[in-house]
Amino acid sequence: MIPQAQLKLGQFPQTRLRRNRQHEWMRRLVAENKLSVDDLIQVVFVRDASSPPEIPSMPGVRRYTIQELVEYATQLAENKIPALAIFPFYDKPDRNENVVHMLTADNLACQALQALKKAVPHMGVITDVALDCYTTHGQDGIIENGQIHNDKTLDVIADYAVIQAQAGADIIAPSEMMDGRIGVIRQALDAAGYQDTGIMSYAAKYASGFYGPFRDAVGSKNCLAQADKKTYQMDPANIQEALREVAMDIEEGADSVMVKPGLPYLDVVSRVRQAFCVPTFVYQISGEYAMLKAAAANGWLDYDTCFLETLMAFKRAGADGILTYGGLEAAQLLQQD
Ligand code: PBG
Repeated sequence: MIPQAQLKLGQFPQTRLRRNRQHEWMRRLVAENKLSVDDLIQVVFVRDASSPPEIPSMPGVRRYTIQELVEYATQLAENKIPALAIFPFYDKPDRNENVVHMLTADNLACQALQALKKAVPHMGVITDVALDCYTTHGQDGIIENGQIHNDKTLDVIADYAVIQAQAGADIIAPSEMMDGRIGVIRQALDAAGYQDTGIMSYAAKYASGFYGPFRDAVGSKNCLAQADKKTYQMDPANIQEALREVAMDIEEGADSVMVKPGLPYLDVVSRVRQAFCVPTFVYQISGEYAMLKAAAANGWLDYDTCFLETLMAFKRAGADGILTYGGLEAAQLLQQD
């Protein structure tokens, strides 16, 4: 690094950094990062017609029936959002130990995938393979003797990845944080003839308290009760370990990686982006979204300003793309700009 004195960065009053901030046109010229609709992945929830649409902890977000989802996706496509990520809602009575729904080829998520690929064929569709949307206990894996069994979980997610690829998923995004999942999914997809189906790995996913509203949205919160996911999701204290997770997932065949949550983990996004030559995504999760909405509803923050600011922060940290519940909102705000 060149010592600061040698760089002659300038001194007041000859140098006045405010000169470059005087006019809107000038600020546009010197902006170091740009946020565009091309950066956005809209996260959506799908339900069957008998399930409730409202998610009280996520104002402005609803669970859609497949028909509603198709209409919404058409709107996303009209606004040029490149892709959406989809999660199914199953209430407790519809969940079971051996994840029957998950391994049924015409389950809710797969039906939604098929409908989406038909209605908006040019929009990317990303799906999850974790078990938490299907299990009675709300954990992301198979439980044996009170423990999440890593390798038995791998067998299930490999099968589910193939089922989703068959239904038309463009990208499989495993979020369950089992060891070895990327390699196993890649092998299973290739063996089934889905060489072109991509893998976006939730590589550095932390055991976060900010997932609460999502767990309401997919129906896993009551199932989990007081349990946590600390034996498989990462400790918020760690960043070296995040780099190891990412390195292993790339080695195993991930096409892109993700850091999650977003705003509290910008340092992780930045380190991952600098350390690896692989598209790096960030997930602005439910709790981040809910905090902004709640503060705005109280009149404490201006939602539009603060929301776009958080998205820009992800770009500044180096993210190539952002999974967010406000994708459509952002696209519309950017058009007004
Ligand atoms: C679980 C999963 C979670 C999220 C996405 N996939 C929650 C969890 O790990 O319990 C959270 C997303 C959000 O909070 O928006 N496989």
